[in-house]
Amino acid sequence: MYDFKKSVVYQIYPKSFYDTDGDGVGNLSGVTAKLDYLKNLGIDYIWLTPFFVSPQRDNGYDIADYYNIDPSFGTMEELNELIKEANKRDIRLMFDMVLNHTSTEHEWFKKSLAGDKYYQDFYIWKDGKADGTPPTNWESKFGGNAWEYVPSIGKWYLHLFDVTQADLNWENPNVRKELQKIIRFWIDKGVKAFRFDVINLISKSCYEDDFEGDGRKFYTDGVRVHEYLKELNKATFGTDAEIITVGEMSSTNLENCVKYAGADQDELTMVFSFHHLKVDFVGNQKWVLVPFDFKKLKNILFDWQTEMAKNNAWNALFWCNHDQPRVVSRFGNTSEYWEKSAKMLATVIHCMRGTPYIYQGEEIGMTNADFENINQYRDVESLNYFEILKNQGLSEQSAYQILKVHSRDNSRTPMQWNESENAGFTTGTPWISVNPNYKHISAENQINDENSIFNHYKKLINLRKQYDVIAYGNIIPLEVNHDSVFAYMRKYKNEQMIIINQFYKTETTWKYPIDLSGFKCILSNYNDCNIQNNNILRPYESMVLYKKD
Ligand code: GLC
Repeated sequence: MYDFKKSVVYQIYPKSFYDTDGDGVGNLSGVTAKLDYLKNLGIDYIWLTPFFVSPQRDNGYDIADYYNIDPSFGTMEELNELIKEANKRDIRLMFDMVLNHTSTEHEWFKKSLAGDKYYQDFYIWKDGKADGTPPTNWESKFGGNAWEYVPSIGKWYLHLFDVTQADLNWENPNVRKELQKIIRFWIDKGVKAFRFDVINLISKSCYEDDFEGDGRKFYTDGVRVHEYLKELNKATFGTDAEIITVGEMSSTNLENCVKYAGADQDELTMVFSFHHLKVDFVGNQKWVLVPFDFKKLKNILFDWQTEMAKNNAWNALFWCNHDQPRVVSRFGNTSEYWEKSAKMLATVIHCMRGTPYIYQGEEIGMTNADFENINQYRDVESLNYFEILKNQGLSEQSAYQILKVHSRDNSRTPMQWNESENAGFTTGTPWISVNPNYKHISAENQINDENSIFNHYKKLINLRKQYDVIAYGNIIPLEVNHDSVFAYMRKYKNEQMIIINQFYKTETTWKYPIDLSGFKCILSNYNDCNIQNNNILRPYESMVLYKKD
């Protein structure tokens, strides 16, 4: 129990999960109400995106008080109840800590603004250039310049995200102590897992113009980041060997990730990296429309798999989260092969070396939002970029087509529980539109269907618990140059597993690298799993073959 290598984490975006009080916004009691559903799925941890006091400008990633619950999500009693009920079912909670920035509504920022010298140094205030322009040309990740001028102070503060998300000054030891206090507060309440938001952006030491990019090279994986993480580890979660941590690493590289998540590094348990989810970008440009590059996707995942393993470091495995489009819409098929492709994509990730994360609704094959109108979008980044794209000369229609593919709101539509109104998410008016396809994509439709996507996820979770080779084995990429097959082998002691996946809707052939005698098919998305069907793989076919000597 609680071996993170055998565990699976389920991510909940509470706002869109389940609403128990009819105000159209999901809440913590809604998570408690659905614990049996999650237990049935078989997950071990629930990562809850932030539910702390917040003006909700970035749906809770703009925290105004780290010690209290935002009233829209419930009360401390309701949180305690959730922890208690989850524990009863052997499910642990992972809290999402946003330590790179606070909301400008946080009392530290308010004091900083009021001219309080002690708190002024909590944030990054700089003088502008002599000509009155911002200190550097860095761009905010949500569009526009990353600095905001405050006339009463006569300086600019840094915000790598929204203007209401002010970056904390980690160079200041008092900031680090305050942040440690927050983590210890939640550990004392029994929290055994943490996700750290954009944690590789905390060390900024050099404030220069970036003449080649948007500034990220000056603050990503910064010079003191490993020192800060080691310090945080030692002062907080490192004192309890049971606590697991995952860091969200923005635009990072392997060299740093083997340190962040190295088994003997005393930093974090594992890392999220995102390069495999930029294969439908142009460079770092997300707001464009290009087909995804399959070979690039495969090579990136294989590189991370093999290099992290070589360095005894651990990956978080994922396709989806609250910032990403739905994977079945992105790399799969939403029509004829919806079910097959959703199962295939799940198999690719779940049999790899690392800890898999499932984002709410992924386990039932939820698809992109498919909004028909710009007024349906809620996400600050999407709304900003809609304007930016139009200002760049794109027609409203073209800008809208790009949002439809890349917007973070694609994953934020309400969880589709059943066929009743609003997909059973709320009895009120949902804060964001429900995807109209809930009539055929819902949890209720799938739970009792042995062949459903839900049950495929359930089987994958069981495989990880049952077969040590998935949790502990090494990984050997196969057919790396194949145009449509994603296959790899896992080996551990006397166990071998071969995982074969066809990524497209055409048939293809491939060569098995070894003699398959003795292997049996233990999971497939076709009912007649045929190991040696002339080496032909059918549309989106996926197989897990296993042998023990
Ligand atoms: C992370 C979160 C994202 C948020 C950003 C700023 O990337 O996942 O939702 O907007 O950090 O906190």
